[in-house]
Amino acid sequence: MHKKVLVTGGTGYIGSHTVVELIQKGFSVVIADSLENSDITVLDGIEKITGVRPIFEKIDLSINYPTIELFKKYQGFSAVIHFAAYKAVGESVAEPLKYYRNNLNSLMNILEGMSVTNTPNLVFSSSCTVYGQPEKLPVTEQTPIQEANSPYGNTKQISEEVIRDFIHINEEINAVALRYFNPIGAHDSALIGELPIGIPNNLVPFITQTAAGLRESLSVFGDDYNTLDGSAIRDYIHVVDLAKAHVIAIERLADKINKSRIEYFNLGTGIGISVLECIKSFEKVSGKKLNYKIVGRRPGDIEKIWADTSFANRELNWKAEKTIDDAMLSAWNWEKNIRKIQQ
Ligand code: NAD
Ligand code: WQD
Repeated sequence: MHKKVLVTGGTGYIGSHTVVELIQKGFSVVIADSLENSDITVLDGIEKITGVRPIFEKIDLSINYPTIELFKKYQGFSAVIHFAAYKAVGESVAEPLKYYRNNLNSLMNILEGMSVTNTPNLVFSSSCTVYGQPEKLPVTEQTPIQEANSPYGNTKQISEEVIRDFIHINEEINAVALRYFNPIGAHDSALIGELPIGIPNNLVPFITQTAAGLRESLSVFGDDYNTLDGSAIRDYIHVVDLAKAHVIAIERLADKINKSRIEYFNLGTGIGISVLECIKSFEKVSGKKLNYKIVGRRPGDIEKIWADTSFANRELNWKAEKTIDDAMLSAWNWEKNIRKIQQ
């Protein structure tokens, strides 16, 4: 079987973990990344873990010509996993055009490259953000999509529609859209992990950076939600569990056992965890007391969401295996590794 896979955004957080899983399953990988939100040294981590250094192409995929040339150069990828995108919700509100331009142009260029070179299979990084605050929990793939509450979220909704319309006229091409819930954690080796630039927006890197002494204290955004302890609830999924689902998705497409030309899967654990529970988990696995304070709600935040994962469990024969404690420990080990913290 021909197994050369193009991984866009492959030096990024979720991309790098997926590249490791792909290599370990015998795929040969070409990474295409602009390095705008990742570092070339990620390749060293991937090589240390797998013994293989993937081919790397530094490229801005939002520019049409070089993207099409990339596809022509490697004639015959068996699949594309398209991670490359900007992902900061707040920044997307401040600079919407930057987000629409990058996320949508990149996708359209990738689709054109696939069609020009007869590349058959696409796995796309979508997000639970497409559901907004659902009325009924947990959310299934049939839960209605709500009007996006940020330009970032809107790029994911539009992207799903662009892919749907594109495969409609490109009958050889099939796609899977994976709607991730909240990816956290790092590889067990602590050789790759999340590398947020500047002050982290996301909870877990903020927790580990606070514990590492880079931030003074974590602000818990709200303790007056209608939840058991008042803090907001999310479905936190270990990035390695998430990465594994991508390998299964491209194998499913390669084996042609997909049930429709575009399929959507919720990738979460199915378990809702509050911010305060996350802090407790971190304190337990790290043995460190976290400095935190309760502040007001963060504008735009939803109260609670978690996934119904039964469709992914059944169809992909995949299940998130790692716990919140596993994820927190791996995130902390990664933070300690990059900050050179001993204990
Ligand atoms: P990341 O920023 O770590 O990785 C994205 C990579 O894409 C980066 O290495 C960046 O340099 C690259 N990139 C961005 N624009 C590019 C362009 N025009 N050309 C080439 N490379 C480009 O992000 P991540 O957390 O790994 O997210 C991967 C994907 O998953 C994104 O599409 C994101 O929207 C989606 N997603 C992420 C989360 C999350 O919480 N991390 C949740 C749901 C969905
Ligand atoms: C998690 C919880 C915060 C930071 C975002 C995107 C979403 C998806 C995943 C891409 C919330 C609370 C956070 C802090 C806190 N990304 N929090 N103090 O907002 O669920 O989702 O990333 O598709 O689209 O919106 O993730 O990690 O920012 O927050 O109390 O300093 O932690 O209020 O309840 P979120 P997050």
